[in-house]
Amino acid sequence: MLKKEQNELLTQTGPGTPMGELFRRYWLPALLASELPEPDCPPVRLHLLSEKMIAFRDSSGCLGAIDEFCAHRGVSLWFGRNEENGIRCPYHGWKYDVSGQCTEVPSEPVESGYCDRIKLKSYPLVERGGVIWVYMGPKDQQPPLPEWEFATVPTSQSFMSKRLQECNWLQAMEGGIDSSHVSFLHSGALDRDPLFKGAKGNQYNLNDLKPVFDVQSTEGGLYVGARRNAEEGRYYWRITPWIMPCFTMVPPRGDHPIHGHFWVPIDDHNNWAWSFDYHPTRDLSREERQAMEDGQGIHVKYVPGTFRPLQNKDNDYLMDRDAQKARISYSGIEGIAMQDASLQESMGPIQDRTRENLVGTDNGIIMARQRLMKAAKALMEKGELPPGRMPEAQRVRSVAIVLPRGEPFTEAAKDALRAEPGKKHASV
Ligand code: FES
Ligand SMILES: [Fe+2]
Repeated sequence: MLKKEQNELLTQTGPGTPMGELFRRYWLPALLASELPEPDCPPVRLHLLSEKMIAFRDSSGCLGAIDEFCAHRGVSLWFGRNEENGIRCPYHGWKYDVSGQCTEVPSEPVESGYCDRIKLKSYPLVERGGVIWVYMGPKDQQPPLPEWEFATVPTSQSFMSKRLQECNWLQAMEGGIDSSHVSFLHSGALDRDPLFKGAKGNQYNLNDLKPVFDVQSTEGGLYVGARRNAEEGRYYWRITPWIMPCFTMVPPRGDHPIHGHFWVPIDDHNNWAWSFDYHPTRDLSREERQAMEDGQGIHVKYVPGTFRPLQNKDNDYLMDRDAQKARISYSGIEGIAMQDASLQESMGPIQDRTRENLVGTDNGIIMARQRLMKAAKALMEKGELPPGRMPEAQRVRSVAIVLPRGEPFTEAAKDALRAEPGKKHASV
């Protein structure tokens, strides 16, 4: 349970808030590279951390995110003309480059230098691994480029998607840390989904509904270990790395690709749930890629032309009571991602954590909240930069492994938890 002030601290990410400042010290996934495919393509609205921007790729291929609204009289530059290395407001023709600098005010004499004095807020964007990343913090505190394994393997080995989730980022992310719900909510999917089925580990998951959690702090966040009974004298461990502030990786199943998420706040009531899949040592097969594109595994189908899931709160996520009764799916909702999102959105835009009752399987969540609050305060009060910004902390993998009882997973799975190019992933 949290105090009201603690819940507010963790869930508010607008400019100037402690968590907002924390988020502004990391490279965050902003757009799919395919949203800005070529020079002078249409600009895209980018709403993150309660700020409204537009992102565009100029005639030379350079990327930038600038304030959405024209400095003249506030028109949205989403309507702008992306031409000749800048975006031109269609109202009176003012023009801005990717750094937000105004380069032309057609109504004023060039000699007046008027446009030199006009500059919109801007943030750097970089493309890496099929994702366009944004850094929204102070220039002198910009960390090295992101080194998550999914973003560094060849794109033939990875697949990325994002979906709108209509609730605060924290309750979405907490679902990614709490792997105890898998044996319930996702039980039907483990048998059927092409990106999950057939793994030996699934049986351990379904046979032991009382996982014991062992959560260990790491430099960049946590390893959340969930232990279930396996054969005599052995445990099946599912280990989820959480790296600050909002990255989690789901433990793998058999030779299926590994996957994970980022939950990036749009504003305090909405977030982007990013889902990535990759295989560390081989290309994704045509069937796997097709299944991902079709919205299986952790991906979804969309309302055409948007990133809003086709199953959403306006249609009760197409809940099927018969499927619920027949246990075809535990909640009656189809698909792993929407099973999660439906329940997380049902908590309301911001879960009231003053009224919750936590149990042992929530230890990962409790520790993540503590780490976040501590880091946000240290940044605000002492200017201390938060953990998880450096490549070393980002080179992690999730693990599904069977170990002899009595062996601590932090030792026995130490090597498996490190991402290294070409190394096979540890997965049962
Ligand atoms: S409002 Fe943009 S040029 Fe006038
Ligand atoms: Fe889930």
